[in-house]
Parts: sequence; C-alpha cells; structure tokens
Amino acid sequence: MPGQIKKPKEGVPNGVMKGLEGVMIAESAICKIDGSVGKLWYRGYPVEELASGSSFEEVSYLLLYGKLPGPEELEGFKRSLAAERRVPRGITDIIAEEVGVAADPMHVLRTAVSALATYDNEAEDQSLEANGRKCIRLISKVSTVTAAIGREMDGKGHVEPDPSLGHVDNFMYMMHGNRMERHKLDLVEKMFMLQAEHSTNASTFSAMVTASTLSDLYSSVTSGIATLKGPLHGEADEAALRMLLEIGKPGNAEAYITKALAKKEKIMGFGHRVYKAYDPRAKIMRKEVEGLRNAASEEVRELASTAMEVERVMKEKIPPEKGIWPNIDFFAGPIYAYAGIPIELFTPIFASSRVPGWCAHVMEYWASGNKLIRPSELYTGETGLHYRRIDER
Ligand code: CMC
Repeated sequence: MPGQIKKPKEGVPNGVMKGLEGVMIAESAICKIDGSVGKLWYRGYPVEELASGSSFEEVSYLLLYGKLPGPEELEGFKRSLAAERRVPRGITDIIAEEVGVAADPMHVLRTAVSALATYDNEAEDQSLEANGRKCIRLISKVSTVTAAIGREMDGKGHVEPDPSLGHVDNFMYMMHGNRMERHKLDLVEKMFMLQAEHSTNASTFSAMVTASTLSDLYSSVTSGIATLKGPLHGEADEAALRMLLEIGKPGNAEAYITKALAKKEKIMGFGHRVYKAYDPRAKIMRKEVEGLRNAASEEVRELASTAMEVERVMKEKIPPEKGIWPNIDFFAGPIYAYAGIPIELFTPIFASSRVPGWCAHVMEYWASGNKLIRPSELYTGETGLHYRRIDER
C-alpha cells in the first residue's frame, strides 16, 4: 500500500544510494565527526572542551562566524540576541490557539516559526547583512516560541523575556516563570551546546535543500524543524524517555531489552548513522546522568538508574562490532526530567538549540556558491501506456 513504511532493500542496486548514506553534498568547515572513534569538533574545537567551559551564545558565535569571540564581541553578540527575544502578539496568539488542538507541540513550533517570517520586513532581503541579522533573530525567537508553547501547555500565561539573563537562563525563566538553580541550568546549557550542530544530519540537509532553491532563512529553518520531528531523528529523545518510563525500574531492563531485541525492535536513543563508536555527546551527558542517581527526586534517581542499566544490558547483548551505542538522545530524558521539563517539549528544545547549526550551514552553502540540490531517482514504473478517458476504462 502506498505510504506504508517499509524497510529499505539491501545493497546499492544501479547506483541508488538509499538514505544518501556516505554521499558528500558539500564542503564545510563547520563541524567534523569521526564516527569510527567517536570524536566531534565544532570549527576545530573538541565538543568536550566547549561543553565544559563555554556557553550556548559562545558556541553559536563560533558556529556562525567561524572563530571564538573576544570578550567585547561576545558581549555584543549576547546583547543582539537578548534584543531579539520578544515575539509579536500574533505569534503568541497562534500558540494559544494551537496548543491543545495540535497533537504534537512540534506542529505548533513549526507553524509559529514559519509565521515569524510574516512579521520580518527583511524576510526576503537576501543580503549577507540581513541574513546575518535573521540568524540572530531566529536563534533568539525559536527559543521564545518553545518557552511560550511550554507555558501554554501548562495553562499559564506567556512570560516576557528578561534581557539581563543569558540565553538558556532566560529560556528556562520564560518556561518556569522563575530562575532555575545553577546545577540544573548548567546541564540544560550543556544539552543546548551539544545539540547546536551536527554536520549534514537529516534536518540540516533539509534546511540546505530549501536554501539551495534560494528560498529564505525562515523557510530553511522551518524545513529543519519539520525534518527534526521524526523519531529516527530529534524525537528519539522523547521516545527514549517513554521507553525508560515503560521499563520503570532498573530490575526490569534486562527482560524488556531482551524481548524487544528478539522482536527486532529498535531501542530508542541507540545507534547512529555516523557514530560506530560511543557518541562523544552521549559520553558527556552519561557522566551527568550517572551523577543523577543521587538526585533528591526519587523519580529522577530511578530514571537515571534505569538508563544506566539499559546501557549495561545493551552492551552485553549487542556485539561491539555492530556499533550500536547510546546517542545523545538517550540521556536527554533523565536530564530534562531533573530540570522539570515535560517530555512533549524535548524535541522543540532540540530544535531551539539546533538553530545556530542550521543557520551556519545555510549561510556557508550560500557563500560557497549556491548550487541547487536536486538528486535523481531510478524510475522503476511503467512506460508506453496511453491515456483513456474515464468513461472508456
Ligand atoms: N536498536 C537496535 N538495533 C538497532 C538500532 C537500535 N537503536 N539502531 C540500529 N540497529 C540495527 C538495525 O536493526 C540494523 O540491524 P540489521 O543490520 O541486523 O538489520 C542495523 O543496526 C543498522 O540499522 P539502520 O537503521 O539501517 O542504520 P541507519 O544508519 O540507517 O540508522 C538510526 C541510524 C539512528 C536511524 C538508527 O540507529 C535508529 O533508528 N536508532 C533509534 C532512533 C534514534 O535513537 N535516533 C537518534 C539518532 S541521534 C540524534 C539525532 O541526530 O537526531
């Protein structure tokens, strides 16, 4: 039946590269992944160093402009981001109207971000300067939209941004209506930094395809959001937490995983197209989740312990040569539960943190001499048929 999701056929018949696996679509100086050893660099800097000493703003600057900012550059960038946080009333009205009727907050996020273009009189200005300003606007406003969706889901009113706070601090303030304690904030900021960029993943590719038609940045980011939504990509974080909740206790993990693997089910938050060694982002967050086994909340302690046990069982059951290790989405659940973030907002938060990566790739692709991305397909249908009018069939 058309539309049914089927497993792809084995092999590469007649040059068809299923899933574009291994196909390079551009030259890029933004992000390097060495999947064979589990290493990741943003603009040449190892993510471990960035995640431990940097901030989301600094990482965004690095991704967009290709170098770490000096103190004044960083302050200026932070001020520009803070000045762009507010969203028009029309956007909060869309959010208020759609939350509650939309089956998934990602539908609301995608619609609201798309609508942002209609309030920007530079939306169609393709100059380098205007596009640079739109990158800043999008990084700021997508987070505001996500926070507003969270408030609306909670039945609470929109909180205006506080320009004196850093990006993630302000984001959590807009979500919760009060400041979040330092340790929780640090973990959420780490997630923002580690999810800010990841080379030509599906959503970035999608943003680039849209940009390659010389469409605009709002359309590109909207495409990125739409593509991130699937459970094989961004929504894996939600799916992984739902699995941990279903497992319930560490003691249930072995039976659950054994049964799922026997049924050839995928374990959400495991596996990666590029990493065949441990995802370095997951390695960083794993350490934090390990620490959450001593958190004050019993729910968080149990989630963290169940996650560690699932990881242990998977390591025992899956031969290392298969290269199926936890990815960053696996550890997002216990971290966000600790920060009091509802499960439905995990993917909108992922989208909010990925905006710098999408924008950096689109800007780089345009600057490198844009080429329309238009692959081919191998036609396997019929030929030589002739049309007959409906009353003759
Ligand atoms: N659990 C169990 N087996 C798996 C898993 C998993 N999570 N992932 C891959 N495999 C097996 C798969 O069954 C297949 O086995 P076989 O060769 O025996 O048929 C083999 O590994 C190759 O899998 P694939 O799906 O063809 O590989 P891919 O490169 O197309 O897929 C993936 C990568 C991420 C889609 C896949 O690993 C997956 O579906 N993982 C679960 C969803 C997930 O966690 N996604 C988040 C990815 S990281 C964050 C992001 O970028 O969004």
